[in-house]
Amino acid sequence: MKALVLIGGFGTRLRPVTHELPKQLIPIAGKPMLYHVLDLLPREVDEAVFATGYKAEVIDAYVRAHPPLHLTVTTVSESEPLGTGGGMRNAGDGIGDPFILLNSDVISDADIGGLLAFHRSKGAFGTLLLHEVDDTRPYGVAALNGEDRIERFVEKPEPADAPSHWINAGVAVWSEQVLQAIPQGRPVSFEREVVPGTLPKGVFGFRSTGYWEDAGTPERLLRAQRLLFDDGRGGPGTLPPGSQGLGPVAFGTGVDARGAEFGPYVTLGDRVVVERGAHVENSVLMDGAVVGSGASVEGCLVGPNARLAADGRFVGAVMAATPRT
Ligand code: GTP
Repeated sequence: MKALVLIGGFGTRLRPVTHELPKQLIPIAGKPMLYHVLDLLPREVDEAVFATGYKAEVIDAYVRAHPPLHLTVTTVSESEPLGTGGGMRNAGDGIGDPFILLNSDVISDADIGGLLAFHRSKGAFGTLLLHEVDDTRPYGVAALNGEDRIERFVEKPEPADAPSHWINAGVAVWSEQVLQAIPQGRPVSFEREVVPGTLPKGVFGFRSTGYWEDAGTPERLLRAQRLLFDDGRGGPGTLPPGSQGLGPVAFGTGVDARGAEFGPYVTLGDRVVVERGAHVENSVLMDGAVVGSGASVEGCLVGPNARLAADGRFVGAVMAATPRT
């Protein structure tokens, strides 16, 4: 079985870091968010097709250097962004029936094996994993009948128009016939333009009650990192040699943090330097980033090779080596 993974977005809400690399490669709890998403795939899925676009070559190079375990990866890149539906249509040739559809920026403990079994038991055309949230405005919202069949699906509704609090969690199973319903050769929003029209064919909702976070903004990305660490998916969480404070801290190779202090929930990429007397908590520092001595870093996303001044106080910031907005 194959999974089609949508990886073509610009990640505008995570700029300026996403000027340098696609958001799917931002490490949280020790590895790129994309790889945490792939970890959820059950063993019967043996191939992932990446629908890429923005910075496709960076994704390709990373995957070649770090091939995911148990999965063959093929990538199909868009020269112009085709949206979620256009990306599916462009990459979906030979995807097989059914296939798994994944957003690549959603962190959860989704039970995809359970989702597949549910899909099969219903003889469904499609099945969306649903998660319950208070504020449905940024998401697609489903109204279900007593048999869990989706009767209405509204993308990004105003609160008064939201038919429930159950949202499309960015994980689904679809018959490959759904690809025929996607117009070709132009950008298409799958959720807005295609999903509502598929409902008469039998599309179901599988309610997931575990943790879930859309890691598309800095605050939510850091919340997703905390969820992963709390679930034990961030590795052993020991402190870098010679540092003190509170883990979990996930760190790469060549890190120098002697004399630094950590609060909980930190990822340090390869070759990160945290100088003496600096304090870092609830943050991500990517490869080659440097925190000057005595600086304090809290709730920050720090891009590759960015340098934070000694004795500075950095709270809730997103920083890149070459600042651009
Ligand atoms: P923002 O620019 O911050 O909104 O992020 P984004 O561009 O990733 O958009 P969004 O979070 O809405 O995207 C949801 C999922 O669809 C993510 O996994 C994106 O990578 C993916 N996606 C969005 N647009 C495209 C596209 O044009 N082509 C492909 N292949 N994937 C897309």
